[in-house]
Amino acid sequence: MERTLAIIKPDAVQAGRAGAVLGHLEGAGFTTRALRMTRLSQQQAEAFYAVHRERPFFSSLVRFMTSGPCIPVVLEREDAVRSLRETIGATDPAEAADGTVRKLYAESKERNAIHASDSQDNAREEIGFFFSRSDLLTTAG
Ligand code: CMP
Repeated sequence: MERTLAIIKPDAVQAGRAGAVLGHLEGAGFTTRALRMTRLSQQQAEAFYAVHRERPFFSSLVRFMTSGPCIPVVLEREDAVRSLRETIGATDPAEAADGTVRKLYAESKERNAIHASDSQDNAREEIGFFFSRSDLLTTAG
């Protein structure tokens, strides 16, 4: 079974939507394998989004991602990476399909409620960024 990483972002947590977002994902067939709440440091946010370092929105993105707690979640499902990206919708909520997480809960292209890994390689890397091997062994089944 394939795994991917979601992050329920600070805007959704602060708006009291974390439970609704997680419920939406579980309703879409994902199993929660590991989860925690954390507030990213500047160094952690810069490292996580290092691929975007040269983009004009990078410093604003880092400010947003460090503005409050977020909830990294390891999700499991068949075809998890592709399915999660479909379930959350386009980066910009104005372009996201009806019924997607971002259409329902995101505020803007930056404050867009949720992150999802964009490939299986990145999913492995991003899961390892937040969770240890033993975290992923704690859920039986
Ligand atoms: P995410 O899927 O976490 O990956 C990179 C993030 O950068 C993205 O979601 C948005 O939060 C943010 N982002 C991407 N493009 C833009 C943009 N054009 N302006 C502002 N923020 C953006």
